[in-house]
Amino acid sequence: MATGIPSNGRNRVGGYSLQYAGKISREQVLVLPDVPPTEVSIGLKDGKLYQADNLTALLWLRKQSNIRGQIRAVYIDPPYATSMTFVDRDVKHAYEDHLDGAEYVEALRRRLIVLHDLLADDGSIFLHLDQNMIFEAKLVMDEVFGRDNFRNFITRKKCNTKNYTRNNLGNIADHILFYSKSDRNVWHRPYDAWTVEKIADEYPCVDAATGRRFKKVPVHAPGERNGETGKAWRGKLPPKGKHWQYPPAKLDELDAAGEIYWSPSGNPRRKVYFDRSKGIPVQDIWMNFKDAHNQNIHITGYPTEKNIDLVLRLLTATTNPGDLVLDCYCGSGTTLEAAAMLGRRFIGIDAADAAIKATVKRLAQGRSAMGDFVGARARKSKPPQRGQATLFPDP
Ligand SMILES: C[S@@+](CC[C@H](N)C(=O)[O-])C[C@H]1O[C@@H](n2cnc3c(N)ncnc32)[C@H](O)[C@@H]1O
Repeated sequence: MATGIPSNGRNRVGGYSLQYAGKISREQVLVLPDVPPTEVSIGLKDGKLYQADNLTALLWLRKQSNIRGQIRAVYIDPPYATSMTFVDRDVKHAYEDHLDGAEYVEALRRRLIVLHDLLADDGSIFLHLDQNMIFEAKLVMDEVFGRDNFRNFITRKKCNTKNYTRNNLGNIADHILFYSKSDRNVWHRPYDAWTVEKIADEYPCVDAATGRRFKKVPVHAPGERNGETGKAWRGKLPPKGKHWQYPPAKLDELDAAGEIYWSPSGNPRRKVYFDRSKGIPVQDIWMNFKDAHNQNIHITGYPTEKNIDLVLRLLTATTNPGDLVLDCYCGSGTTLEAAAMLGRRFIGIDAADAAIKATVKRLAQGRSAMGDFVGARARKSKPPQRGQATLFPDP
């Protein structure tokens, strides 16, 4: 296994950016004309819905002193440059996705510049795209938010497998770029629940005296040190190119507490006990958040509607109750419902009539089982209740 030894500098200087026709400076973007957006009544005191072009609306929000710098999390799922016209489940027009190339990149960049300004210093932003534009978007996000504030490139399995592609692999992934405004971002690490099989796999050892399950992990780390962590402990030097993770006094303490495992050949390992685990720390590949893929899932019927559990996870990790959440491409209102369920305040913006209609309906009446869009019956889910989230589908 290759081992990287961290150096002091993180090589995140950047020094390059995406160049294309029509790119204007950040300063020019921020003085583009703003327009007060049309507010749509949703009858919720903790949420606002606006129908507007989002650039002029964001520029207007930026002038509101109770909004600018107050938004704790942004989730956006803009058009993906598909060159398609989207219709809803009733084949009614929803929205156009015809921007492409430099025009697309600049339109997105202008919105990201204003969003950066709207975010709180400890805020986070999630940009959801597919393979089409995600790489251009990464460079733009680096430019607007800074490479140091890049947190994750999340890959999501978005649909069931596609076995009939002609000359390429089935595309079942899309991606979420996660950036924060600073390194002080609100962060509640998400965990998946353990299963009996996974516990046995990850924590294979049982302490004979206590019956507690544990795993053995190295007690050394990459890189040589000249200080006490580079010296012998209990007569043992750290392996070549490594140092002890703790000073000798701490290692003595761990050993006295029964937290060091000594191999038959006399090598120390640290015991990590299962009963101290909060769950399986979530990683950056998400397999359990496909969009509507069976007849029982509740949806609005709006095209490109995202799995609400995905958004619930993102918001739970990066916001606190009462925080303000923004989605300026809100579509059917997935982010807004998720925010309401978690007891967060929200602002949603969309330009399309169909999106506004779908959002108003879902916030008032809930969603319907996917199968019901085929027939006349409509089994509704309940509208979101403040502070009542259904967390989360685990493997
Ligand atoms: C991919 S959909 C979002 C779907 C949403 N995440 C959901 O779960 O329903 C993109 C949305 O962006 C909206 N949109 C595109 N350009 C816009 C603009 N300039 N201003 C406001 N909304 C825009 C479209 O109307 C569409 O509803």
